Amino acid sequence: MADSPAADFRCVSCRDLLEFVFPAWAYDAAALKSLWLNRRSSVGISSSNRLDQSGVWRFREMLPHIPEEDAITMGEGNTPLYHLQRCGRATGVENLYAKHQGMNPTASFKDTGMTFAASSAHQRGFRWVACASTGNTSASMAAYAARGGMRSLVLIPEGKISWGKLSQSLDYGALTCQLRTDFDGCVRILNDLVRQKPVYLLNSVNPYRIEGQKTAAIELMEQLGWEAPDHIIVPGGNLGNSSAIGKALMEMQELKLISRLPKLSIIQAEGANPFYRSVKEFGGEKIEPMTADTMATAIRIGNPASWKKALRALRATGGEVKQVSEVEIAEAKAEIGADGIGCEPASAVTLAGLKKLRACGFVKPGEMVVLILTGHVLKDPDFTIKFHRGDLFAGTPDERHAVHAKHLQRAPVVLDADLGAVIAALESEGDR
Ligand code: F0G
Repeated sequence: MADSPAADFRCVSCRDLLEFVFPAWAYDAAALKSLWLNRRSSVGISSSNRLDQSGVWRFREMLPHIPEEDAITMGEGNTPLYHLQRCGRATGVENLYAKHQGMNPTASFKDTGMTFAASSAHQRGFRWVACASTGNTSASMAAYAARGGMRSLVLIPEGKISWGKLSQSLDYGALTCQLRTDFDGCVRILNDLVRQKPVYLLNSVNPYRIEGQKTAAIELMEQLGWEAPDHIIVPGGNLGNSSAIGKALMEMQELKLISRLPKLSIIQAEGANPFYRSVKEFGGEKIEPMTADTMATAIRIGNPASWKKALRALRATGGEVKQVSEVEIAEAKAEIGADGIGCEPASAVTLAGLKKLRACGFVKPGEMVVLILTGHVLKDPDFTIKFHRGDLFAGTPDERHAVHAKHLQRAPVVLDADLGAVIAALESEGDR
């Protein structure tokens, strides 16, 4: 039977940190912060330089130990924090920022957890790693496996993931199986497979994934000068990311790296809302798996693995959970795009959710809000092109509501190769 990553995993705790990394008497939050910042300016190509240059590994005091020689890194993390000016004005939250995790090596937030979990597979001597995915985990896993000289097996739902993501795992050399089922069906098969074959499971139930993903929140606090914002808003799918960010926030508070907790709110698509329903209908007592459906295919998940951890994060930080419609997602995505940033549909639920959190008074105008954008706009160009051409909702029950999104559409204009035609097009735009 395969070695389960959870079996021998001992999570780093703040106590470990204080007892083993820094003896309690010598612990100094300011010294830890400056150690991490110094590493960021590291130059050189030695393996320890490369660890210091990674936005994950430079925070290694907050992570379980993995030997340097097993680390597979592509300089992940170190992602930008953007001020969203137009979106801020439109939502009445001037202090609106986006932490763009789509600026990672394979263009999604998955790389921060994958560098760490793939390294743990390498340390254990696995030849094969595997995951079920809606496309981003598989792209990331395939890349890190290739970099570490391992083979990768990808299980994805047939026809329900974007071409951009599928093409990544093909190019990175994964054995890619498109199963005639949904994401949840892929997870079931994978769970059975790892009991029979010596493959290392790299879904987000792997605790090393969660540990690595914590660094997004640590890096965010560093970018904000260790002053926590009022709110952090994340998309919710399998709920690994919310769990990781929640865990990081609580650890940072315990270690006195930050003095207060931001509220962590989780947003789901209406058609893939088991966590929203768990909180709103069942008081978080249980989750009712569902058949999920949303055009934001990354979060088309009906039975989220990490819902209990996400619930803990939600409660500990006092966050909210909201659901948003398909049209609201499409509009929010175009608005983030119009701010010159762009993201994939699943990431845009954060802005759509912010509008709801503003409307109910949970987010107040003077507060600072950070949206976690999880994937790059080029992950799903089909969605973007269909939206701007006005085809995204054609023939769907949302067609009628989609008229509200018309003012955001920028369809390409096909013209003869004629200067006059281009000038006419320019003039007809006016100050739009
Ligand atoms: N945003 C994007 C772009 C994603 O790819 C995912 C999850 C999420 C948000 C939700 O994050 O699952 O931690 O709650 N994608 C997974 C995958 C499931 O297989 O790529 P979560």
